[in-house]
Amino acid sequence: MNIISSDDLSKDQILKIFEIADSIKEGNEEVTLKEHSVLALLFEKSSTRTRVSFEAAIAELGGYGIYIDAQTSHLKRGERISDTARMLAGYCDFIAARLYSHNDLIEIANNSTVPVINALTDLEHPTQALVDIYTVRSHKKNLKNVKLAFVGDIAANTANSLMLTATKLGMEVVLLGPKGYMPNSFYFTKAREYGKIDTYNDPQEALDGAEIIYTDTFVSMGQEQEAEERRKLFSGYQVNGNLLSYANSDALVMHCLPAHRGEEITSEVLDGPQSIVWEQAKNKKLLAKAILLYLSNKE
Ligand code: CP
Ligand code: NVA
Repeated sequence: MNIISSDDLSKDQILKIFEIADSIKEGNEEVTLKEHSVLALLFEKSSTRTRVSFEAAIAELGGYGIYIDAQTSHLKRGERISDTARMLAGYCDFIAARLYSHNDLIEIANNSTVPVINALTDLEHPTQALVDIYTVRSHKKNLKNVKLAFVGDIAANTANSLMLTATKLGMEVVLLGPKGYMPNSFYFTKAREYGKIDTYNDPQEALDGAEIIYTDTFVSMGQEQEAEERRKLFSGYQVNGNLLSYANSDALVMHCLPAHRGEEITSEVLDGPQSIVWEQAKNKKLLAKAILLYLSNKE
């Protein structure tokens, strides 16, 4: 089994991964990895959290992580991604890949005999969505109807994955962004099949009753040429004290990180009492372990 898209996981599968994470936390997890399991981390884009959390996770589970980047491997010299995948699957027990093209990741999965994990593509960030909703679940007894507002770049990879995972678990999602800027229609339509989701331009209207405020960078990796334009486009959607005042007074603030302080979020909010961002980031290693253990027991 692979985790290429957040849609690869049913509600029950997501909950199973959360249960594994809970039992790791409580020190009760009985499932272990095959001795000396190896995780290949094939990364074309930068990463701090995802790379280190997966490397630390596999090490703590008794295995090894091998980091391969595009620059120092033959990917840079044009070796086919499908050939690369066949080799990595021959040496390793899992492949986690962070790529520009989502189709390249599908190509890896099609040529791999071991589980492939999406560590972020231009379209999705499914392991992040698992971390995010697991973190929400630690604060809310019942996820049903919990209203999560994604603010800013509502067509980002993180938004695409989060809207699928959140709606599958019964949460309500509102997407708050500038007029004329639409979410990815494929993911939006899918999320609509699973639950309640809508788009808004007006913060006051969108955030009424919101319990979770989530944001991500205005300029994702690969969009550097449009940076100036995007910063202007999203400038009215900074998560700051004023925006927070429209949500519930005890609303929690989340960000996948890295944060661009003063752009999509202020330091005051990021480091403030409503922020659960650091807990969210910390959960990445726990969820990386749960994902590896879950996949190791699947066909
Ligand atoms: N949130 C996240 O994926 O962070 P990195 O880019 O540092 O991996
Ligand atoms: N949307 C961001 C997420 C980084 C973790 C990006 O793709 O750069």
